[in-house]
Amino acid sequence: MTSLARALRAASASMLLSGAVVASAQAADTPSATAAATPASSTVADTAAPQNGRFSPSLVEQGHYLATASDCIACHTVAGGKPMAGGLAIASPVGTIVASNITPSTTNGIGNYTEQQFADALRKGVRADGANLYPAMPYTAYATLSDDDIHALYAYFMQGVAPVDQPTARTHLPFPMNIRMSMKFWNALFLNDKPYVADPHQSEQWNRGRYLVDGAAHCSTCHTPRGVLMQEKLDLSMAGAQVGPWYAPNITPDAAHGIGTWSQADLVTYLKTGRLPGKAQAAGSMAEAITHSFRYLNDADVNAIAVYMKSIPAIGSNGSEDAIQGAAATSRFDQGKPSNALPAFRGKGFEAGMAGDTRGAVVFSANCASCHGYNGQGSSDGYYPSLFNNSATAGANPNNLLATILYGVDRETASGHVFMPSFGSQPGAVANLSNDDVAALANYLLSHYGNATQKVAAADVEVIRQGGPRSNLLTLARVGIGAGVAVVLIVIVLLGIRSRRKSAQARR
Ligand code: HEC
Ligand code: HEC
Ligand code: HEC
Repeated sequence: MTSLARALRAASASMLLSGAVVASAQAADTPSATAAATPASSTVADTAAPQNGRFSPSLVEQGHYLATASDCIACHTVAGGKPMAGGLAIASPVGTIVASNITPSTTNGIGNYTEQQFADALRKGVRADGANLYPAMPYTAYATLSDDDIHALYAYFMQGVAPVDQPTARTHLPFPMNIRMSMKFWNALFLNDKPYVADPHQSEQWNRGRYLVDGAAHCSTCHTPRGVLMQEKLDLSMAGAQVGPWYAPNITPDAAHGIGTWSQADLVTYLKTGRLPGKAQAAGSMAEAITHSFRYLNDADVNAIAVYMKSIPAIGSNGSEDAIQGAAATSRFDQGKPSNALPAFRGKGFEAGMAGDTRGAVVFSANCASCHGYNGQGSSDGYYPSLFNNSATAGANPNNLLATILYGVDRETASGHVFMPSFGSQPGAVANLSNDDVAALANYLLSHYGNATQKVAAADVEVIRQGGPRSNLLTLARVGIGAGVAVVLIVIVLLGIRSRRKSAQARR
């Protein structure tokens, strides 16, 4: 996985806010001392920390499982770098945020963190020195973690991770986002820190599922649309959202717009392998979540997630931000037959300047047909998916089709490495297709294999190439500050006018 891909995956997280029910309870069994409680870091950075073994191996293993379920490594490790040593630059809509070194290094990591400080970082977004963290660190979701789970995670980070005595780059956000204090106001508005309360009317399995979905697995941080202040819109939970260049689709049980036609087993298969033949395959940030996290979850946990997901409120087109494709009664996974499997492009001349459909067909045959087949039918073993009737071609919008072309697919699962090369401008791309070519190709695929109501322009391709739509949060904040300054100036001017009048009256 490239660091670009990671940064893109993490871009999502920069806007985290889960509607999670949250635990504010203090971590149990908190060590009282800081440095004294944590043994000095080893000078051998490559091997597991030879800590004093105050946590049992089974507790450390439990913490390891939770760290995997929470995908800490995705953000806290650079490609090819030491695990949890930080340094990954996370592109957020307001600027680049560098993930911390969270190895137990006492000089550059969290080796001096007490369990209480660790709990506060995870559930309240507050660092050991009291400064606020940016929500690029998904504390709004981790706030659901129970005291027991925090304890296990702490044991793993102190004893199961090798210390790396290496500093990371510093985060420099533009004004006014560089004021960490401002997160206090954001937290006051949007951080739900009520403890997770199991719903007694639901099964233990459902409660486990909800605990994982809202907390460790933080599904809603990607799949729920955001408001102007980057908070999750709770009434549109899981209704679909743009995450960097990728669109995380509606995964509510709505039959037409969500995944209501998927069975429990379908969802389990997808979360474990990232592929549901004939329906969907995971690329982008979902591929990364599967590669690093979901595929390692045990069957009980994946099934619990699926049980809970099938129970959440279904949200249809009326709820979704995007006008979702035409025939609302049919599932987006059931689009009927391809309108035309193979348009007559051969013999029409392959010269540049070919218009629309022909150009798309030519780009397709030159770059895609070798794997996906001349009719986009895919390979018979299903390794190369059919492009017809597919989440990427029949979705709510064409963004994942564009992102797939520009960034490819890269996913690691138990059954092997799934890879499609990229056709964008980054290193390693097999070809750098122009925005016009990508738009023609996408329109060709949409009209023949998927959601024909969607149309792509070259400018849309450029937006995805640049990493997805930009947030206007920074502009808003600047305008907000500007407005604040303006108000103060107006007040001063008014006061000035009044006092001048008064002194003028006094002179008369
Ligand atoms: C989506 C990305 C992401 C994930 C997943 C993530 N973190 Fe973070 N984390 C960050 C970023 C970014 C920062 C730095 C934020 C800042 O500087 O305000 C951070 C900061 C921290 C800090 C504060 C350290 C310090 O002193 O600076 C701790 C502790 C931490 N993370 C622990 C964890 C643990 C444990 C997990 C898994 C349970 C985790 N993180 C998962 C992105 C992430
Ligand atoms: C880091 C962001 C992120 C997280 C976390 C995440 N997803 Fe996704 N998810 C995506 C993206 C992006 C896609 C689209 C992938 C594609 O089609 O290539 C996706 C696709 C899916 C799909 C396929 C939907 C379709 O119509 O094709 C399902 C189902 C899904 N996610 C479920 C989940 C569940 C359940 C969780 C939590 C356990 C979760 N996701 C967590 C980003 C995320
Ligand atoms: C070298 C073989 C190869 C080539 C060339 C190739 N693909 Fe793919 N494509 C794949 C593989 C492998 C997958 C992923 C299958 C999976 O996820 O299980 C894939 C997946 C896709 C998907 C689904 C992605 C998603 O997130 O749902 C689309 C759409 C797609 N390709 C379109 C294209 C287009 C358009 C081209 C030409 C620009 C192309 N592919 C070229 C191998 C290829």
